[in-house]
Amino acid sequence: MLPFAAISFIFLLQFSLSLASTSLNQASDAIIFQTKDGRQQREFDYFKLALQWPGTICKGTRHCCSSNACCNRSGAFADFTIHGLWPDYNDGTWPSCCTGTNFNEKEIRTLLDPLKKYWPSLSCSSPSTCHGAKGSFWAHEWEKHGTCSYPVARDKYSYFLTTLNVYFKYNVTKVLNDAGYVPSHTEKYPLGGIISAVENAFHVTPSLECKKGAVEELHLCFYKDFKPRDCAQTHSQNEIISSKSSCPKYVSLPAYEPGAKIFKSTDSSRQHLPA
Ligand SMILES: *[C@@H]1O[C@H](CO)[C@@H](O)[C@H](O)[C@H]1NC(C)=O
Ligand SMILES: *[C@@H]1O[C@H](CO)[C@@H](O)[C@H](O)[C@H]1NC(C)=O
Repeated sequence: MLPFAAISFIFLLQFSLSLASTSLNQASDAIIFQTKDGRQQREFDYFKLALQWPGTICKGTRHCCSSNACCNRSGAFADFTIHGLWPDYNDGTWPSCCTGTNFNEKEIRTLLDPLKKYWPSLSCSSPSTCHGAKGSFWAHEWEKHGTCSYPVARDKYSYFLTTLNVYFKYNVTKVLNDAGYVPSHTEKYPLGGIISAVENAFHVTPSLECKKGAVEELHLCFYKDFKPRDCAQTHSQNEIISSKSSCPKYVSLPAYEPGAKIFKSTDSSRQHLPA
């Protein structure tokens, strides 16, 4: 059974996708973004939905604050949450900080409940926005990536709504659970099995990143009309991944229970950013 909110999001997805395909007909590679600092970037090639595994990321939590969802869950974190929806180029590079207005939470106020739940910050740090300031996790994702998703997502509201919708539609946690890959402190799973489970469900190959042998991120890729496609495994991307976050043949999918750790510090000067 889908919760009501999910049903209305799926309805809105169809609506926003039909808007997107209208705009795609007018899009072309010739579109160039002039960024605020004067760089030119062409329109992106595809989307990457970056999901993060809280069980792995929250293990790095040293201090707590109200914005860090690692510290504020009543139960275990057993689902992938959203990191971002990233416009990418096929060559493994990506546009960033394109033309767009600064983040303003008021413009997405009707989405705050699902965003808090499914797109929470897993850190106390304030990441940089595109203009050298510090902002929220959402401000960072919008300014760095969301602004480059034009013309598919034309504003903040459609960027965040579209991302939620894609996340609801492609439930990777469910796919892995159904294939027997459930959160565990002790189990190791074959990386190839996890990849196959996603391939069987969505007919495309995801990419994964690990930290100390535990799954940290899973990326699902999409054409601009949100039909799934393989994530590009280009030379440059492979180099980046293999240098710092490649997954071993057997990986873990740790569960995270906030109760297992006692958090006391709310002192912002001691906030710690998990790597
Ligand atoms: C922490 O979680 C509780 C219960 O889910 C919620 O009511 C509260 O608003 C959360 N606090 C913050 C700062 O997110
Ligand atoms: C995805 O599936 C899991 C496991 O079945 C479920 O707990 C979760 O609520 C689903 N997520 C969404 C966003 O529907």
